[in-house]
Amino acid sequence: MDKSQEYKKRGHVSLEELLAPEVAHAYLGIMQKAMGDTPELQKRFYKDALAVSRRSLELYSQFFPFSLALLWGLTPTMEDVVGAKLLPAYAYGRVYARGAQLLVHNDRVSNEHSMTLTLGYADDRVWDFYIDKNRLPDSEAKNPSQPWVFNEDEYRCVKMQPGDAVAYQGVHYLHARPAPNPNEWSAHIFLGWVNRDGPYKDSAFDGLSLPPKPTFYFG
Ligand SMILES: [Fe+2]
Repeated sequence: MDKSQEYKKRGHVSLEELLAPEVAHAYLGIMQKAMGDTPELQKRFYKDALAVSRRSLELYSQFFPFSLALLWGLTPTMEDVVGAKLLPAYAYGRVYARGAQLLVHNDRVSNEHSMTLTLGYADDRVWDFYIDKNRLPDSEAKNPSQPWVFNEDEYRCVKMQPGDAVAYQGVHYLHARPAPNPNEWSAHIFLGWVNRDGPYKDSAFDGLSLPPKPTFYFG
């Protein structure tokens, strides 16, 4: 089964070493530089996210356009996985604190095709990603009745090293990191795409105020 078939059939596919570990490490270093290297500077990025049990550091692409370059650059890769033409929606980085849990949830429509990419673990302890084996029907996917739970043995566990990614159908497949983060911190990027001609195409470039058509001057 190739990656595209696997993605369609199981709702997700693992992309090991999508980034070389060295690149993931370098990316995280640049991300940290953007957030600052003191507690005072970094606390500007504290955020309570809906499905996260502890406050995280979150870096949205409007403050870090470098993440857009990765999102846009990975679009052909994601198109190969999905087997359809896509447009990029959004990107952001998150650093989870020790003990944080990512609760079972599904994603908003900007994550029609979603990717979680591990950048690094403070203590090199793999923090497992779980995804449901079953697809949510449309009626439930668009109207989530929190809190979700996985049914017993009806989920798969993915172990991710820095540089590894999982591409998944974020709207229709519940996912989580239910165990407490075993590292002092754990850093990840989240990327989302929508079908170029699909029902969520209006979520392309989600949250971005794209500039008007540019003008250039000579002399
Ligand atoms: Fe999610």
